[in-house]
Amino acid sequence: MISKRYIFSTLIFFNIFFFISCSTRTLPEKVTFSEHIAPLIYKNCTSCHRTGEAGGFNLISYKDVSSRGKLIKYVTASRFMPPWPADAAYSHFLDEKVLSQEEIDLISRWVNQGCLAGDPGKMPSPPVFPVGSQLGKPDLVIKLRDVYKIKGDGQDRFLLMRVPYEIPRDTFISVVEVVPGNRKLVHHVNAQLLSYPFDKRKEVMKGNVVADIKDYPTTLEAYKKLDLPNDDGTFPMLTYSLTNYLPGVTPPLYPDGIGGFELVRKGAIFLKDIHYGPSRVDTTDQTTFNIFYAKEKPKRPLKEFQLGTFGVAPTVPALVIPPDTILTFHSDYMLPKDISVLTLNPHMHLLGKQFLAYAITPKGDTIHLIRINKWDFRWQYFYTFKSMVHLPKGTLVHAEGVYDNTRHNPNNPFSPPRLVAEREGSMRTSDEMFQFIVTYLPYREGDENISLERK
Ligand code: HEC
Repeated sequence: MISKRYIFSTLIFFNIFFFISCSTRTLPEKVTFSEHIAPLIYKNCTSCHRTGEAGGFNLISYKDVSSRGKLIKYVTASRFMPPWPADAAYSHFLDEKVLSQEEIDLISRWVNQGCLAGDPGKMPSPPVFPVGSQLGKPDLVIKLRDVYKIKGDGQDRFLLMRVPYEIPRDTFISVVEVVPGNRKLVHHVNAQLLSYPFDKRKEVMKGNVVADIKDYPTTLEAYKKLDLPNDDGTFPMLTYSLTNYLPGVTPPLYPDGIGGFELVRKGAIFLKDIHYGPSRVDTTDQTTFNIFYAKEKPKRPLKEFQLGTFGVAPTVPALVIPPDTILTFHSDYMLPKDISVLTLNPHMHLLGKQFLAYAITPKGDTIHLIRINKWDFRWQYFYTFKSMVHLPKGTLVHAEGVYDNTRHNPNNPFSPPRLVAEREGSMRTSDEMFQFIVTYLPYREGDENISLERK
């Protein structure tokens, strides 16, 4: 029998424990760079804020950080930085870039106290980042065929590119890593794979390799410009989601037996699309792709479906957003079989304001997928779950997007606002899209227990 005394002492123990764990949570009286701020910045900011990276300026030395104290306080409190639009209070993903409230308060107190430097003896050493590859030595490197010239006109560029390659024989690969040639300007790359049957296309290296999305009213017209088809006009096999890049993102390395691709002798990496940020000086890019071989044929290659534009279920109502309106659109899809979900990618353009997706199982349970409270078209991650999420047959997948076509939306491409709509899948930023891309595998028992964390 458990005595009262035992219960009493246990209660005291837990009270003390609780007290200690709470008190460690309170902020230090005096916040210093060397002791408190530097470790936080190195862990959450420096990967993108160092020479040549997308952040545009360094966040390493005391001076780098203290000279921007107020701005850093603002961008962290508003959760603009580190960039991670998905709401961590709704669902969790791999490599989440989110500061805790305590960390945000710590930065704020440091700035309010006048950005104290602290004891130099307590300074941690700055992080060291691998050069070239985050994953090791690649087996094959494929480069953009031509160096791409970027004009210093201060414009964003969204391009389609065909990156042709020829290798001595067909092979299997596990993962593809994007290494931007110009890390400052390459803001995202979404790559697919084109596989040409050996005898159906004589020359893969020749032809056009670049199309600027803004020059083509439909995706199909842009595709035509890129010489994608076989010699007889038929279309080669296309595999989705070969790799997706955003600054600071390392591609997920799935456990053995999951994912992987077949790389045939003649093919092309198809960039749909590559986004270069604005530059004030003329410059260039020649992005490369690190290819890592696999020993065997992919056992469970990834599959993909999407809701909305070009998807398995339409956008409702049709995506037409008159000027001076804020409207919500949705798309619903009933799963015909059990699946294991790996990644999610919500996609909208400049008028996007919020995004929400969840699933309702046949038993009536709601499974949170993703919520974005403040859409940011620059940060369209492929969010990978920490372990696969099982959605049974008959589950309803629901996605909804809110669009703001008023003058209060600072990203509105038109002033005054104009009617904006989806136009045959036009990828132009001044046209709209609503897509929710889901990468999955046919479900196998136990999938939900397999960790997708990098080993
Ligand atoms: C994944 C890459 C990445 C990470 C991680 C990151 N940043 Fe940034 N940061 C950027 C980029 C890119 C920009 C330029 C603006 C943009 O494209 O959104 C930027 C802009 C900024 C700005 C300028 C904002 C302005 O309005 O001028 C500040 C300040 C900043 N970051 C601070 C931080 C801090 C502090 C952290 C860590 C808590 C951090 N960043 C983490 C990529 C990153």
